[in-house]
Amino acid sequence: MTIRTVPTTPFAGQKPGTSGLRKKVREFQQPHYLENFVQSVFDTLEGAAGTTLVLGGDGRYHNRAAAQTILRMAAANGFGRVLVGRGALLSTPAVSCVIRRSGAFGGLVMSASHNPGGPDADFGIKYNIGNGGPAPEKITEAIHARTQTIDAYRILDTADIDLDRLGSHRLGEMSVEVIDPVADYAALMESLFDFDLIAARIASGKLTLAFDAMHAVTGPYAKAILEERLGAPAGSVMNGVPLEDFGGGHPDPNLVHAHDLVEKLFGAAAPDLGAASDGDGDRNMILGRHFYVTPSDSLAVLAANATLVPGYRDGIRGIARSMPTSQAADAVAKALGVPCYETPTGWKFFGNLLDAGRITLCGEESFGTGSDHVREKDGLWAVLFWLNILAARGESVGDIVRAHWARFGRHVYTRHDYEGIDSAAAAELMAHLRASVPTLVGQGFGGDTVVLGDDFAYTDPVDGSRSSAQGVRVGFASGARIVYRLSGTGTEGATLRVYIERHEPDVARHGLDPQEALADLVTLAGELAGIRARTGRERADVIT
Ligand code: G6P
Ligand code: ZN
Repeated sequence: MTIRTVPTTPFAGQKPGTSGLRKKVREFQQPHYLENFVQSVFDTLEGAAGTTLVLGGDGRYHNRAAAQTILRMAAANGFGRVLVGRGALLSTPAVSCVIRRSGAFGGLVMSASHNPGGPDADFGIKYNIGNGGPAPEKITEAIHARTQTIDAYRILDTADIDLDRLGSHRLGEMSVEVIDPVADYAALMESLFDFDLIAARIASGKLTLAFDAMHAVTGPYAKAILEERLGAPAGSVMNGVPLEDFGGGHPDPNLVHAHDLVEKLFGAAAPDLGAASDGDGDRNMILGRHFYVTPSDSLAVLAANATLVPGYRDGIRGIARSMPTSQAADAVAKALGVPCYETPTGWKFFGNLLDAGRITLCGEESFGTGSDHVREKDGLWAVLFWLNILAARGESVGDIVRAHWARFGRHVYTRHDYEGIDSAAAAELMAHLRASVPTLVGQGFGGDTVVLGDDFAYTDPVDGSRSSAQGVRVGFASGARIVYRLSGTGTEGATLRVYIERHEPDVARHGLDPQEALADLVTLAGELAGIRARTGRERADVIT
């Protein structure tokens, strides 16, 4: 086994986005493409020699081939050990969990999250640091800079190793341990939640559930935890076998893509809880019987009920939410007398707050919820949190959320996505908004007055780092908001997201369809940005 140094030249565009480098599989399959990026990651790390690296992915097409390449490169770059999930599988939260439990130097997650998989679809790779969380911008910028100057990578000349059997292998000087992808994660979940209580409620028939793994990575996790440990009947986990193309579906847990689950929960024999997760297992969608819980409300309800859960029995230290996430969590934080931080979109911004012990729970409107147990958002964790609350309260999801609204008011919320629009038009639309919204301050619209018009900038309270241009905000005196930003995760054209929110204290109006309740703000949002004129779109492609 010899180490080869392979000359190479930079590829343009190897810039990690909101969540790592995401590109079409075909782009990743170009000779040297993956290698260049992985070597750039390794070149950026200081003090990694002899340490442990964690490796796993969501099972999508190219996952296995990429894992073999990365293993050979890790060996050639002096790592002491790699822990890799069996079948090259590890959910994103499980990578975070394994990094923390094993004291690893960091980890590589092979995933394009909720983007479709297959030879013509997407692949991705992300580096996580020793706290288990996504690398902060300082590191991703250094990685990107390195990709632009790279002239060689190192790789061990050796055959593929068998990733389908648990056990140890040697690759040159480095050891590779193929680990059970579920074991550490399941143990962590058991330490946080009241498994006995949940299992007893399930056994009594008073708590029924359906979990849609969408043929992505959470299938084995959900089967092991929900069916085997908690005793949910076989079949409670739907689409539980990970497939390289996710069965042709789009593994994004929202009302549009998780259609099997939505049909079930809004059908005649609906279970008490319905939930879905995405490609790599970090997102979640929560449904009750004939009831949809927005991710923003979910975070607020978890916070308000946290002391019912053993892992959070002593209360929470604080909450953080991404800027476009509704202010429902702020209301709970206020009532609990704990801080609520507003961060830019992207889980990585929670890392410092979690590490510093300033927050316990965090969440994003993009179907992400999590806590200080790992440093990624965690889909199954959110499902177990809900199950624990349902088991403890013995009420339905709908009743729990409605009672929450009655107490705090409802933060009526919607997100309108315009997908695959022309990138230049999208950039112009944002530039126009950036220039125009400050001038709106003081103007009245439909009985409300604009009190804020800016492009969100964030200064991390822990390390002082500053992130600007994180989304245009229009805030009203009533607390209503319109937020615009461009997606950082798409791989084709640009996606404009418009987030709209209004606080409704009147219980009599809590049952209104958000599209109806927010219709005036939706229209205004379109007009302020000139969406139709600039993008040619009459309406959003996805409304959640
Ligand atoms: C990924 C990140 C999330 C982030 C989301 C935003 O899922 O892990 O933290 O909220 O991307 O996606 P967007 O497409 O809106 O940039
Ligand atoms: Zn994901």
